Amino acid sequence: MALIPEHTIERIREANDIVDVISEYVQLKRSGRNWFGRCPFHDEKTPSFSVSPDKQIYHCFGCGAGGNVINFIMEHERLDFLSAVKLLADRVNIEIETTQVSPEQRDEQASYYNLHELAARIYTRTLEGDQGKAAREYLARRKLSEETLKQFRVGFVPDTWETVTLEAMKLGLPRQILERSGLFMSRKDKSFYDRFRSRIMFPIIAINGRVQAFGGRIFGEAEGAKYMNSPETPIYHKGRTLYGLNLTKDRIRETRTAILVEGYMDLVRLYQGGFTNVVAGTGTALTRQQATIIKRFADQVFVCYDSDAAGIKAAQRAGLVLLDVGLETRVLELPAGEDPDSFFNDSAVDDFKVIMEEADEYIPFVLASQSEALRSTTSRSNFIQSFVSDLAVMENNLLRDMLAGQLADELRVPESNVLALLQKQVRRSNRPHRERGDGAKRRSGYLDIQSAADRAELELLRMHISENRDILDWLLTSLTDEDVQQLRFRELFQLLRGRLRKEFPIKRARLLDEIESGDIRSLMSRLIAELDDVPESITHADACLGTIRREQNQKALETLRQELRQVEKKGGDVSSILAKIADIKST
Ligand code: GTP
Ligand code: MN
Repeated sequence: MALIPEHTIERIREANDIVDVISEYVQLKRSGRNWFGRCPFHDEKTPSFSVSPDKQIYHCFGCGAGGNVINFIMEHERLDFLSAVKLLADRVNIEIETTQVSPEQRDEQASYYNLHELAARIYTRTLEGDQGKAAREYLARRKLSEETLKQFRVGFVPDTWETVTLEAMKLGLPRQILERSGLFMSRKDKSFYDRFRSRIMFPIIAINGRVQAFGGRIFGEAEGAKYMNSPETPIYHKGRTLYGLNLTKDRIRETRTAILVEGYMDLVRLYQGGFTNVVAGTGTALTRQQATIIKRFADQVFVCYDSDAAGIKAAQRAGLVLLDVGLETRVLELPAGEDPDSFFNDSAVDDFKVIMEEADEYIPFVLASQSEALRSTTSRSNFIQSFVSDLAVMENNLLRDMLAGQLADELRVPESNVLALLQKQVRRSNRPHRERGDGAKRRSGYLDIQSAADRAELELLRMHISENRDILDWLLTSLTDEDVQQLRFRELFQLLRGRLRKEFPIKRARLLDEIESGDIRSLMSRLIAELDDVPESITHADACLGTIRREQNQKALETLRQELRQVEKKGGDVSSILAKIADIKST
């Protein structure tokens, strides 16, 4: 087995804070400088298991178990040293040379990355050449320096149909790979052409430096949506990716602080202005998975979104997601109508520092941004209702209740009222189908909802018939077809998603006419009937997806562990099973 260099191991150890890692297995509470919980290595009622963030070690006063973060993983996952290090490396996206995915998988992945690298090179070359003149002028007007363009590998693709296609064809890759790469479209006669044309190209680069997707911005006379982004592909999942992190992660880790912006351009401008601890989303609402990635590097986040209505709403939502994963969250207030990028046009870097110093805590920001709406009693009550339904989906119950309390306090509403409302919402979101007092029998086993994941599926199904376009967009991008394959109600998902691609939003009444199976129709109608009862937000959708994926991972892990034990007994090679386990653990 190959050796991992000592300095790499050191880097991996440093990147995996022991409190973070152990928190994924043991519930820890802070007491003084250390954290305590119930020892996972022996049976105990009172917590005698301690973790020291200063020393980066754990120790159990009950059974004497102890060690560093690698030892913990070795003991807990029953792995050898190398496998434990690999698991930890995956967790923080540090790459070690000896990868252990299957050869075919590796080739396929490599092909996607190669294609993206090829495209990125073509784009940057074109920007520098004659065809790139107008794009260069545009970027200069947007105040991006040449150095910045190089750092971010910004490029340009002219208004031709086969700039990348022609080069890609020379690689002789299977058709399927080209199709799934997201870089090409195909004509009726099955020939390919470039997906991106006549755009300034921002490569979206994975944390390890590999180009995995693109965002293309239109400019000048060209027509079309402002941005065209890569679709979901085998190497690109929007909900799990942050733009810019490849360049900014070190600075974020050093300062334990990140500035979160909405757009590629915002990020690039802030970076150029010397604020190099910045991250951006990928054009969709911030997901819990993205927040969790930020949490690996930072303790604190400054949300810096556009100061228009849409930006404020998005910041409000993102804030809750960040708080929920345990990030200290503050929100910057830019002058009305500005985004971070425009702000730098007429203000000095120092002004931005002032804005950061004046950043609000989360609840004060929400209230300040709603001050107009909070004037009348009715609108106050509406606001509380809708905000509380966002709160209801948080996983951190303590924090959730504290935020509700703070809101009540600020709005001078009795805290008990807000908490009662919250409880009601929480119950609803945990129990999507109304309990029938009359004890009516379920029609059949199909509607028997058992697990949290089943309930989460129902919630997601219901959201497919929502009229909220943001949520629908989210469902079509963040919930991948790959996810759907694994679901219990996959037929119904496929039906709704197929429909959504043609009819956006879905016309509910007509939908029922076309469902022939009685069971499915009865489920569908129940979902429609309960539409107004349940929280409808991207935060909630994201939480449901989280529940489903966790349950799926749990099942997959169980199977793999059984397999592992069997292969071990026979003395076979367990490396590929370990790699799979590590892979699941790192998602
Ligand atoms: P500039 O408008 O050039 O300053 O770019 P920006 O990156 O600041 O864009 P903006 O603030 O308008 O939007 C924020 C992010 O939303 C972008 O970076 C994109 O990821 C995404 N986005 C914006 N417009 C579109 C669009 O028309 N289609 C898609 N798919 N995404 C978009
Ligand atoms: Mn902008």
